[in-house]
Amino acid sequence: MIICSCAVITDLDIERALIEILDTPDAPLPTPGVVYKQLQKKMVCCGCSALAVETIYNKMEKLAETGVVCPYACACAQGRLLKCADGTHAMRLIENAMANRGSSRRSATANGELAPA
Ligand code: FES
Repeated sequence: MIICSCAVITDLDIERALIEILDTPDAPLPTPGVVYKQLQKKMVCCGCSALAVETIYNKMEKLAETGVVCPYACACAQGRLLKCADGTHAMRLIENAMANRGSSRRSATANGELAPA
């Protein structure tokens, strides 16, 4: 899925950049600017910033759950990212995504499937 149409960045590009960023000692907070820089791209209109923050947050959760990146590093970065996003449109996108994940877990459990930890 395209996240940034100006720089042509997909969610998979963001995931790849996060793996590289979070795999370094003293990893910086993966803000959209840091992630785009890792991809050797720059924001132009910044219209994608809220979607980029939501994508970064969700990708870190996925990377932690699958064990690709240290879950503690992801949790720490997610907490710092939430603080930065507080009161912004990005925060509302993250909250919606978290609510949707919660409802899909609840429906999977109701169907007798094991919910992910
Ligand atoms: S849509 Fe990402 S910088 Fe314009």
